[in-house]
Amino acid sequence: MQTLYVELGDRRYPIFIGSQLDPEQLLGTYIPAKQVMIVTNDTVAPLYLARYTQALQQLGKTVAHCILPDGEKYKNIEHLNLIFDALLSAGFNRDCTVLALGGGVIGDMAGFAAASFQRGVYFVQVPTTLLSQVDSSVGGKTGINHPLGKNMIGAFKQPQAVLADMAQLSTLPPRELSAGLAEIIKYALLGDVDFLAWLEQHIEQLLAGDEALLAEAVYRSCAHKARIVANDEKEQGERALLNLGHTFGHAIESFLGYGVWLHGEAVATGMVMAADLSYRMGWIDADDLARTKNIIQRAGLPIACPQIPLEQFLEYMAHDKKVLNGQLRLVLLKRLGQAVITRDFDVEQMKHAILANQQGA
Ligand code: NAD
Ligand code: GLY
Repeated sequence: MQTLYVELGDRRYPIFIGSQLDPEQLLGTYIPAKQVMIVTNDTVAPLYLARYTQALQQLGKTVAHCILPDGEKYKNIEHLNLIFDALLSAGFNRDCTVLALGGGVIGDMAGFAAASFQRGVYFVQVPTTLLSQVDSSVGGKTGINHPLGKNMIGAFKQPQAVLADMAQLSTLPPRELSAGLAEIIKYALLGDVDFLAWLEQHIEQLLAGDEALLAEAVYRSCAHKARIVANDEKEQGERALLNLGHTFGHAIESFLGYGVWLHGEAVATGMVMAADLSYRMGWIDADDLARTKNIIQRAGLPIACPQIPLEQFLEYMAHDKKVLNGQLRLVLLKRLGQAVITRDFDVEQMKHAILANQQGA
């Protein structure tokens, strides 16, 4: 097992990464009082809930459960309220802990419940998808969707600890594993060309579920995210780099309707568009662009989106959270392994990059 820390002063917390981790041994010190509410969903509960319930009971905790229906469409205020119902019905106090057991949907909802129940209780993350292990469980962004926008209501709430167990990825559908790999490739493209070379060497084994290599990929990804979050917790600057591919990706997700493509799939094609625009700006060369497309494709991810009318694509991009004073900012590659957030790109070239990476282009 390896342990990484997110260095946030007195809110510093560990990320435990390994296989067959022992929650009883690892989580005890991070759950200060007796009451623990495990929030999970009806897919993950039959797989892993008993193990965590047992471990926490062995630690002398009083454990209650809130099992939500599975799916992004339930990441809303009505289903958030079910967590509050469960906490209140169980008579939980201000020193209780909410433990998220699941992917990013559960982590975001449970985290927001922990941020707001009685103005804030303790929170622990047990991410069970590759995407949540390398991205959503680290850094404290939590929240729910509103009918008018995704993740539009939320709070920053850092966990006490994160436990990322590779053994739990064995039950994950292959498409979800690829979606997680998209975020891993993102860290390589935005900040670490050596990591890109490592991924090029091992991508097939990662797809095959090699737990030692997955642990290494999760460790390297979380190390990047932890460093960025420690420097810029509330996304005043550098943290926006983590959105490489996301502005294009959100447009794809919005056009297709949420859930048609997985978030990681949309980000994958979004990263191709960002790399293509960086190439058109003369910042990366043709080989760099080919390398970007190649690793994404080898990870089982799409490098082109269905045809989307340009006007609509641009309209969706304009709703991005990175729009400041009406001006679109994009995360682009100054070099392979070096991303920047910039307004300094040619809009006509951006349109070409969007159109060139649609199916049938
Ligand atoms: P998800 O939570 O929907 O999980 C994907 C699917 O895998 C679900 O059906 C889930 O039930 C199932 N699943 C989870 N663990 C499993 C396991 N071990 N075995 C079998 N099935 C399992 O999706 P996700 O990709 O983990 O997360 C996406 C969500 O995360 C989105 O809502 C997104 O907005 C959010 N997100 C948040 C942040 C952040 O910083 N807070 C970052 C990225 C994404
Ligand atoms: N997923 C982007 C971030 O945490 O900032």
